[in-house]
Amino acid sequence: MSASEFRISLLITHYSLLITHYSLLITHYSLLITHYSLLITHYSLLPILCYYITMQIEVNAESKSYPIVLERGSINNVAQFVPSGKNALIVYDKNVPTTAVNTICEQFPNSKLVKITGGEVTKSIDNYAELLQKCMDAKLTRSDYIIAVGGGTVGDLAGFTAATYMRGIHLIHVPTTILSAVDSSIGGKTGINFGGTKNVVGAFYQPDAVIIDLDVTKTLSERQVSNGLAEALKAGLIYDETLFELFEQDDYLAHIDEIVAQAIYVKKAIVEQDEREADLRQILNFGHTIGHGIEAHFGKYLHGEAIAEGMMYFIKSKELGERVEKITRKMNLPKIKLSPNDIDPIYELIVRDKKANADYINVVEVEKPGHAYICQVKKADINEMLKWGSA
Ligand SMILES: NC(=O)c1ccc[n+]([C@@H]2O[C@H](COP(=O)([O-])OP(=O)(O)OC[C@H]3O[C@@H](n4cnc5c(N)ncnc54)[C@H](O)[C@@H]3O)[C@@H](O)[C@H]2O)c1
Repeated sequence: MSASEFRISLLITHYSLLITHYSLLITHYSLLITHYSLLITHYSLLPILCYYITMQIEVNAESKSYPIVLERGSINNVAQFVPSGKNALIVYDKNVPTTAVNTICEQFPNSKLVKITGGEVTKSIDNYAELLQKCMDAKLTRSDYIIAVGGGTVGDLAGFTAATYMRGIHLIHVPTTILSAVDSSIGGKTGINFGGTKNVVGAFYQPDAVIIDLDVTKTLSERQVSNGLAEALKAGLIYDETLFELFEQDDYLAHIDEIVAQAIYVKKAIVEQDEREADLRQILNFGHTIGHGIEAHFGKYLHGEAIAEGMMYFIKSKELGERVEKITRKMNLPKIKLSPNDIDPIYELIVRDKKANADYINVVEVEKPGHAYICQVKKADINEMLKWGSA
């Protein structure tokens, strides 16, 4: 090879190396761009991947319209729903995280506080009398507010107090359990237990607003979460097949915001059509006939747990029964098997219930997810059904 040929081949090698170098550089930068655009996509999708949901909807009940806010962090904005200068009595459950209670209290510098021990015993005539006294001590007038911060028991008790003190003062629900978020805080049923019968003293009384911040429910036990979700499962079974199907997903808990949102829509839709339970609203009692009996008889099951078991008696399709059974096992809801000795006392509790009437009892049945109907069964047939539960 001559010297000039050698120079030429060196030049060619040099330029081809240069080309390789620049094409590698281009590849490097395009990979970097892809990397950063994937990162941006990832972060913009993150709220969706976690299925967080923010919504504000209006319940247009016959007696009153009011907003329901579902948003993580929304307890910071409770004061938005109370005109300035109003007094507030904040009734809170002792198990609600202190930070959450403080966040609400700071928004109402002149508020008075009442701490309540949650649980079914909370809904007593003694606690009701005590709350009335607190309203009087705080000199609340009809234009003032009770803010109920807690689960269904605190909500029902504080709601009934708001409904009756001075023939009704303003009420805001800040539900802190899943059950109260999807069910008890919406629709205006308030009440206490009396003489061993649940919710026998009460009033329909719609709140001024419902503020749901699911971050506040993070301190609930798994059992309490499943207990509350049982009511959402009920909502899906009676009114919304897509809500029911969310429970069939393996990662259903990742969809908790979506489940809560859809259950709220179900409750809203039903309450708007029948605020005072003349007809349609009765479907919300799906599972309650036998569920309430089980809850009262055993005294160890939570409301949602007992209702979930109560629903099984009134699912009219074997295939659907199996699907629901699969879901309830996944949710770790207890399988409540009755012994022959349980049947008579549960039966007595059921027929003593306020929904019992003459020889027949109104019950709610479901054959297909999303579709419930009300029918009457003979009291004697309830006895037969209870025997099925002990088989
Ligand atoms: N008014 C209605 O329409 C309606 C509908 C369904 C159920 N209910 C009623 O709701 C009641 C059940 O409600 P519930 O399941 O919320 O029970 P609950 O109020 O007893 O709360 C359950 C438990 O969770 C605790 N708790 C509350 N918030 C917490 C938090 N953020 N972190 C940790 N612990 C917390 C409470 O202290 C209690 O021990 C029953 O009395 C039932 O009759 C009413």
